Amino acid sequence: MANVTTPLLANDRCEADSDPLNDSEEDALQGQSRATRTGQPWHIRLREAILFAWALLATTGVLVLAVWASHQQQTAFDKPTGKRNLIFMVSDGMGPASLSLTRSFRQYTEGLEYGDTLTLDKHFWGSSRTRSSSSLVTDSAAGATAFSCGKKSYNGAISMLPDSTPCGTVLEAAKKAGYKTGLVVTTDITDATPACFASHVDVRSQNDDIAVQEVGNGTLGRVVDLMFGGGRCHFLPNGAEGGCREDDIDVVEMAKNEYGWNYVGDRAAFDEFWEGKAEVPLPILGLFADTDIPFELDRRNMNDVYPSLSEMAKTALRALEKATEGSEQGFFLMIEGSRIDHAGHGNDPAAQVREVLEYDKAFTAVIDFLEESDTPGVLVATSDHETGGLSVARQVHADYPQYLWYPAVLANASSSSEHLARRLHGHIAQISDHSPDKLKKYINDELVTPGLGIHDASDDELTALASYPEQAQYLFAHMISIRAQIGWGTHGHSAVDVNIYSSGGPGAEAIRGNVENTDVGKYLREYLNVDVDAITRELNEKMLSKRNLGMIGYEIAADTTNEIPGLAGDHWIAHEELEITRRES
Ligand SMILES: *[C@@H]1O[C@H](CO)[C@@H](O)[C@H](O)[C@H]1NC(C)=O
Ligand SMILES: *[C@@H]1O[C@H](CO)[C@@H](O)[C@H](O)[C@H]1NC(C)=O
Ligand SMILES: [Zn+2]
Repeated sequence: MANVTTPLLANDRCEADSDPLNDSEEDALQGQSRATRTGQPWHIRLREAILFAWALLATTGVLVLAVWASHQQQTAFDKPTGKRNLIFMVSDGMGPASLSLTRSFRQYTEGLEYGDTLTLDKHFWGSSRTRSSSSLVTDSAAGATAFSCGKKSYNGAISMLPDSTPCGTVLEAAKKAGYKTGLVVTTDITDATPACFASHVDVRSQNDDIAVQEVGNGTLGRVVDLMFGGGRCHFLPNGAEGGCREDDIDVVEMAKNEYGWNYVGDRAAFDEFWEGKAEVPLPILGLFADTDIPFELDRRNMNDVYPSLSEMAKTALRALEKATEGSEQGFFLMIEGSRIDHAGHGNDPAAQVREVLEYDKAFTAVIDFLEESDTPGVLVATSDHETGGLSVARQVHADYPQYLWYPAVLANASSSSEHLARRLHGHIAQISDHSPDKLKKYINDELVTPGLGIHDASDDELTALASYPEQAQYLFAHMISIRAQIGWGTHGHSAVDVNIYSSGGPGAEAIRGNVENTDVGKYLREYLNVDVDAITRELNEKMLSKRNLGMIGYEIAADTTNEIPGLAGDHWIAHEELEITRRES
């Protein structure tokens, strides 16, 4: 049947399959023409030969032209030659539904018209397909490897390919070409997305190795000039206060002493740079939390402790612009709204809208920067995948569903379910009187009413929270979601296509429409015009010789073509468990 509708396939089939019927038919035809040809006079044969030669020449000419034209098309954009900057933003776990949710939430809370959209909406560019080499549903590691290397790999891969060889990243190539480079995140700076730009390990849980490589103790030396984010615990030795490494390496000391990093470990030190008070000395390592920076919904109540994503992004832009002032090369900066994903894993819509709003604010800051800067630049922003299977409507009764959802419920919440669950666990650890009624009263009066803004908690809900406090995060989030009539399909990731946003610029047409996540990665290197393949060769030569000498102390992941257990589910539940297993093993 395919033969009828797709002649191209039909040709392929004839060549590939040796269909006995087709073969015999062809033989018969060829035999016939051979018979007639041998009986013809010489001048007719000569004319045939000349015609044949002419046809051959013409065909070759057309082929050469076609190849040349398609090559021209691929490299058609005027490759920028002058000094330029590239900012790549990742909204981890943000699918299209998160935009609808956040847009309406903002319009509701600020009393805006339906046409008053997010800055992101105004820069919609296209959409990206996200599957990895090992699964239809990617994780952040394979997702970020597609961006950093421009190649598909397995879930869990940190810029490593399915054959366990490293792939060069756009950041490494940019550094080699003389650009300044930076990474800004709201989760651990060793987490999958930032790790994929500046390190190479087989599985994402190797945070200890990633931290060491990120400061410069890797195959290529130091490739990053600026890192802002959380995850301080991976830089402090085992046993030190706030440390979670398995070994005794003090990576902060190593960074300072061996690789020349300037270190800032708290908000007070960051504030010296914020809003241009002091010049930011590069290289700079800013670690502002033991693990994650709190959700924006909670962070704004702890503003004196943690900087926000947009504050870190603005400081990074200014620092990198200043550092490249007299240089012929600009900078490459990756900024990640890391915890949109975590709100999705926790199915917490109240936390998620504030994460997306803060990401939109950081996006706006980058757009403003590009408009004001004397150096031309491009902003490309996309997600690695969607998280949670979010749906912006939910049937909550047996009868025909209502056509609505309630942003007011999200607006009334002033704490994330994660924060309230932590407070509940802290409370239970302290009390000696474990009577259920007392606990239920505490949960309602101290957490549910003030934190979630819910005044009608049912006895069933409070009983469940008091009986299964280890499930409190999910239970709190469910109380919000069901009242707001917001649906979720999973606590993990989903395969839906994600949006691409851009300021536009030279060559950005290559990522218009519906593209593969690897196309986004390829565009990054093409805009910067840097040689990522040369980095791949260098990595392979140096890492292979190290491995042969037995200098790399970890096992190569066994069957990397299949999903790796415990990694696909990613960090929500895994996050806290990981902390424990890291300390245990
Ligand atoms: C790099 O790290 C290793 C341990 O992972 C350590 O032995 C070595 O001294 C480090 N190199 C430098 C220059 O700090
Ligand atoms: C929001 O909170 C206010 C006052 O605390 C309350 O009156 C209102 O009913 C709440 N709205 C929703 C949708 O929960
Ligand atoms: Zn995730």
